[in-house]
Amino acid sequence: MSKRFENKIIMVTGASGGLGQQVASGLGEQGASVIALGRNEDGLSATQKHIEELGGRCLCIPFDLTHFDDYGKLFLALKDQVPHLDGLVHCAGSFDRCTPLQYIKADVFRETLDIHLTAPNMLTQIMLPLLRRADAASIVFTSCDMIEDNQNNWHAYGFAKRALGYVAAMWQGEHPDKPYRFNTLNPGRVRTELFKRAYPGLLPTEVPLAESVVPAYLALLSDDNKDLRGQTVNAVDLMANNSITH
Ligand SMILES: NC(=O)c1ccc[n+]([C@@H]2O[C@H](COP(=O)([O-])OP(=O)(O)OC[C@H]3O[C@@H](n4cnc5c(N)ncnc54)[C@H](OP(=O)(O)O)[C@@H]3O)[C@@H](O)[C@H]2O)c1
Repeated sequence: MSKRFENKIIMVTGASGGLGQQVASGLGEQGASVIALGRNEDGLSATQKHIEELGGRCLCIPFDLTHFDDYGKLFLALKDQVPHLDGLVHCAGSFDRCTPLQYIKADVFRETLDIHLTAPNMLTQIMLPLLRRADAASIVFTSCDMIEDNQNNWHAYGFAKRALGYVAAMWQGEHPDKPYRFNTLNPGRVRTELFKRAYPGLLPTEVPLAESVVPAYLALLSDDNKDLRGQTVNAVDLMANNSITH
């Protein structure tokens, strides 16, 4: 029986841990060839091992997404060995702790914008030639509850996540008649290291496992939802609309 993402090549950032690792594994299980980006090589190896055990393929690339001068080299390394990119999933992120705006330090503010806003835009930009080679590529930005909810103390993280809805809309607006599409997904809170750091007062067991929202990413990446273009969607709504139980 053919798998849903057979012959698809999909790049996932943050694939060395947390949500990105689960998305990468879910794609591998469904037959995709995954290009996994992250800094931690042990984490990337674990992702690769898991995908290969599931019968999929995974190319691991240790890469710091805040090293913007290296993006050109990344593209050059891939352009001849990757025939096309059918998907690009932005799952990388980092966040230490909530801090009121009156106390946030400039370097933390700027680093937070770099990983959550500059990196997904610049990686999309540099990978666009590979995404153009696919029949109908899907680019997914990962936002959070701040996309529609004013919450205090999240400084640049909140601003970046709010902006990501506009990011997908702007990319799509600038590419209206192209087969590739851009959308932003709010996964909701899930049990990862980032969650534990950001919500030290909450029990991790109070939120679902990261793997519970993987079907929402797969739905956005699949041709079933190719009419969704430039939208911001919540994982729970998308899974309900696609009749996915979790
Ligand atoms: N967990 C939640 O409740 C929740 C809710 C809403 C949205 N989100 C969003 O979901 C995404 C994934 O979060 P998560 O909870 O899975 O976090 P996580 O468990 O901390 O994982 C973050 C991933 O991003 C990678 N990463 C961080 N900085 C990087 C850098 N400079 N270059 C390359 N990779 C980098 C990390 O790998 P390395 O350390 O190996 O680089 C790791 O693989 C984030 O965008 C987050 O904002 C999370």
